[in-house]
Amino acid sequence: MLDWYEYWHTTLDTSNAPFWKWFVGGKINASYNCVDRHLKKNKNKTAIHFVPEPENEAIQHVTYQELFVRVNEFAALLKDFVGVKKGDVVTFHLPMVAELPISMLACARLGVIHSEVFGGFTGGACATRMEDSNSRVLVTIDGYYRNGRFIDHKKNADEAVKAAEEMGLKVEKVLIWERYPGKYSSESPLVEGRDYIINDLLKDYRGKRVDPVPVAAEDPLFLMYTSGTTGKPKGVQHSTGGYLAYVTGTSKYIQDIHPEDVYWCMADIGWITGHSYIVYGPLALCASSVIYEGVPTYPDAGRPWRIAEELDVNIFHTAPTTIRGLRKVGPDEPQKYNYHFKHMTTVGEPIEPEVWKWYYEVVGKKEAIICDTWWQTETGGFLCSTVPAITPMRPGSAGPGVPGIHPVVYDDDGNEIPPGSGRAGNVCIRNPWPGLMQTIWGNPDRYVNDYFARYCKDKNSKDWRDWPYFSNDGGVQSADGYIRILGRVDDVINVSGHRLGTKEIESAALTVEEVAESAVVPVADDLKGRVPDLYVSLKPGYEPSEEIAKRVSDAVSEIIGKIAKPRKVWIVPDMPKTRSGKIMRRVLGAISNGKDVGDVTTLANGEVIPEIQKIVQGK
Ligand code: WTA
Repeated sequence: MLDWYEYWHTTLDTSNAPFWKWFVGGKINASYNCVDRHLKKNKNKTAIHFVPEPENEAIQHVTYQELFVRVNEFAALLKDFVGVKKGDVVTFHLPMVAELPISMLACARLGVIHSEVFGGFTGGACATRMEDSNSRVLVTIDGYYRNGRFIDHKKNADEAVKAAEEMGLKVEKVLIWERYPGKYSSESPLVEGRDYIINDLLKDYRGKRVDPVPVAAEDPLFLMYTSGTTGKPKGVQHSTGGYLAYVTGTSKYIQDIHPEDVYWCMADIGWITGHSYIVYGPLALCASSVIYEGVPTYPDAGRPWRIAEELDVNIFHTAPTTIRGLRKVGPDEPQKYNYHFKHMTTVGEPIEPEVWKWYYEVVGKKEAIICDTWWQTETGGFLCSTVPAITPMRPGSAGPGVPGIHPVVYDDDGNEIPPGSGRAGNVCIRNPWPGLMQTIWGNPDRYVNDYFARYCKDKNSKDWRDWPYFSNDGGVQSADGYIRILGRVDDVINVSGHRLGTKEIESAALTVEEVAESAVVPVADDLKGRVPDLYVSLKPGYEPSEEIAKRVSDAVSEIIGKIAKPRKVWIVPDMPKTRSGKIMRRVLGAISNGKDVGDVTTLANGEVIPEIQKIVQGK
């Protein structure tokens, strides 16, 4: 499915377990595979349909030829003006615009590693990621539309540079795309010698071509930061050859994407789903990929279906949280529009059978199959899903491992839980696969500890059979191998399909002067799946107030981003604690969800429980 400059001599090298090496000896370029090789037959075909959020703005159809030109010119600029070279890391803080895949493919062309930070994150969150990856170049945009508002985004870059400097990293260049080329639309002034408008610079690179740099299959393609058990986000490092092979293969065989298809994944490219299944997979297959700038319900709940109708989208991909939202505000909208899907994907969270049914009957008009795809930032591509026309769909269950993936469920002691026993356990994958991350950037120990240490059978073994991958998700396997995911077993909360680390939110709360301790727990929510509830206790001498609660909530939005904003900040007299001083999050979670707190006899301070219940439940 891919074009290689040199074929590999070793398919899988396990000598440095569990750091697997795929396609060793192979030479490849991702930009070439997603762009250049399609020109001969398909240069006039649309690669990207960019749909602006304002409905009166025309959709932009970027052909493969145009993509080729824009990727080359930007790559030339990066190479000659910025001076980046193979192995450097360039950070993007970009929203859903066509310039994001263009920037990604320009880096890939040069063998430069890209690291995209979700556009909705703050400048500070961007800085943390730049510091971790020692990235001195930031690519951003002046502004973009979201929910009917034009958001001034450039100011986040100023914040990012400042915060990075405080952490000891000097950001040398900030490159700024313009939402309306030729018209700078931000209030934030340009800093001389640091900030550059890309469209101005590009004038010097008109017509320039840059040969794709053949890189080793094992050279990194990008970093994607994600939340884990500690406060610091981890830089998941993906390879070029293995990753591209995996996302291309799964795009074709699980999502049934072919060159004649119009494919729309309504995720954000700031997350792994967008990298794998808006950009690299579909473009490697020469499909037309839709990028929608805004929110699904703007200006009304018919918007996605109007876009599908206008572009004749036939493969659709979104998250359960979006489906729940559209079902709530516009249950009858899809039938008003004349579009026909052959295939629909869901990703990111478990989908409730009721919601699945609406997706199938109303959105898909009973014409489209559904693939419920379970996977993670770390895994590069799908792990479990049914295969179209081969394995039957089962609402609420992701399905068996996709071809090449062999899931197994272990109990806490490392025993296999037999399929069909109905017992839940920790979902693991028995075998390596090419899409698996290579490591955590700058932290190989974390790679081993977080994903392999738990179920490793022999730390000295070079045999992959001894190194199952631990997903950190709980699940149940049916007798015929279908996996039903129950959710994270670590300190990660999945809000609307977005991963948030509880430690990150707790650390943000602690930046408020009065706060002594903080604890985050997930609360069930009809639309978002889960939302964070934040408990704080105050230092001696401070009285609880609405004002403090608001400052805590604001601190979380400001430090991480609005998506992490707690449902509620509860100021409590003390945290429920074990005798060894550990905060009992389980008890707080039960209170937030209106459930029985269970056995609390081991608590050191059981008397706080009724007080907390009174604050939260008012009784
Ligand atoms: C959850 C997103 C149930 C899971 C691709 C996982 C799911 C986390 C599903 C990864 C699904 C993802 N059914 N749960 N189909 N897909 N998850 O890294 O808890 O943003 O560990 O990757 O989302 O989230 P991430």
